[in-house]
Amino acid sequence: MKLSKTINSLYAEGAFVWGDYAIEQEKKSGQVVLKLQIGQPDFPPHQLLRKAISEAYLEGKTAYGPPLGFENLRIEVAKEIESYYKNIKISKDNVAITAGGGKLAIGVVCKALINSKDKILVPCYGYPGHFSGISDAGGIWVPYRLDPQLNYDVDIEDLERQIKRTKAKIIFLLSPGNPTGGVISAEMMERIAFLVKKYDLTVVSDEIYRGHVFDGKFISIVDFPKMFERTVIIDGPGKRNCVPGIRIGYIIASKKFIDGPVRKINNVKFSCPPTPEQIGLAKVINNKEVLGYIKKMREEFKRRRDVVVKLLNSIKGVFCPNPGGAFYVFPDIAKTKLTGEQFAKRLLREKNVCVLPGSSFGGGMIDPKLKKPYGTYNIRISIASSLETLQEAIRRMKEFIEGL
Ligand SMILES: Cc1ncc(COP(=O)(O)O)c(C=O)c1O
Repeated sequence: MKLSKTINSLYAEGAFVWGDYAIEQEKKSGQVVLKLQIGQPDFPPHQLLRKAISEAYLEGKTAYGPPLGFENLRIEVAKEIESYYKNIKISKDNVAITAGGGKLAIGVVCKALINSKDKILVPCYGYPGHFSGISDAGGIWVPYRLDPQLNYDVDIEDLERQIKRTKAKIIFLLSPGNPTGGVISAEMMERIAFLVKKYDLTVVSDEIYRGHVFDGKFISIVDFPKMFERTVIIDGPGKRNCVPGIRIGYIIASKKFIDGPVRKINNVKFSCPPTPEQIGLAKVINNKEVLGYIKKMREEFKRRRDVVVKLLNSIKGVFCPNPGGAFYVFPDIAKTKLTGEQFAKRLLREKNVCVLPGSSFGGGMIDPKLKKPYGTYNIRISIASSLETLQEAIRRMKEFIEGL
């Protein structure tokens, strides 16, 4: 069988690859591996959501639905999302539901916006799903730098340099970020909005971690004047409602964008999003208890962030910026003289702790300051595990580094 050449340009997500390594290591060592590689909340979905989805199944509600998703879910998503913004009104006409989680929402948006060989600016360190969505649509991803000294906010000088150098017309924003947990500050967002208008860019704003901002309120590029009309937003319930496995995503954009390209691409790619899950979500996402549950989860992640960052920074050879959101930390381990890849491999083998090498989030692009691929000397640790597990993992990490 002859395979397509494009398979080689696909960029697979390291979290799933390393999940398999962790399982192999458990078999080899006969011990439980502390798995800090995957980005999913360790909270179960709220019981009202579990009930609502299972009821839909039990009632046999498994028929096809419309390509843009059920109208009642689109109304509820608009209502939920609108509460995060300062100035804009969102209606169901601005919302599309997708199958395949936020990841396929990215795929749909890339298909709608990108032509072959288009250059697309992505934050670096960034989410592999952006890289693969872009390359799958024929585009070429190019980096702009996030600054560890600013807790991974955008390096605005580098951003303008890259816009001028590449002549890119599309920029991905990601705040709070993966793998860094970095949050773009209000001042920086305003400066980005200025550049977006100055260079006439289209924005893809990935806001999947909007529910996980620790200090202050969530800020979006669309909070700034005239930005909504040139922005497409990626979102989904996976991280907020703790249901990554139901594989539903949201796209928020102008009515014209939703009704035209998104309707058509959804139809072509997956016909319609899953029915019982949509029915369940529509019933409960704006329920007070469910919204309160998100807040509780956020507070817990913040508590863990505080402990984890402090512990990591107390280890000689580790520098850990303070992430403002999501559920990751992305320390620099350059002083150990190991690359993130070597570090993660040995930590797994010698201490049964699974973290991800930073290079999984660099797309092979070169960091202009480091002159090496982005993420070469970083690891990503997911803090979506109990505090006890995290403390034990860091204790082992410290032991590992001290034994080098
Ligand atoms: C930044 C970002 N966007 C999108 C996604 C995709 O989310 P989903 O699991 O809903 O596909 C992820 C998942 O890790 C992510 O980190």
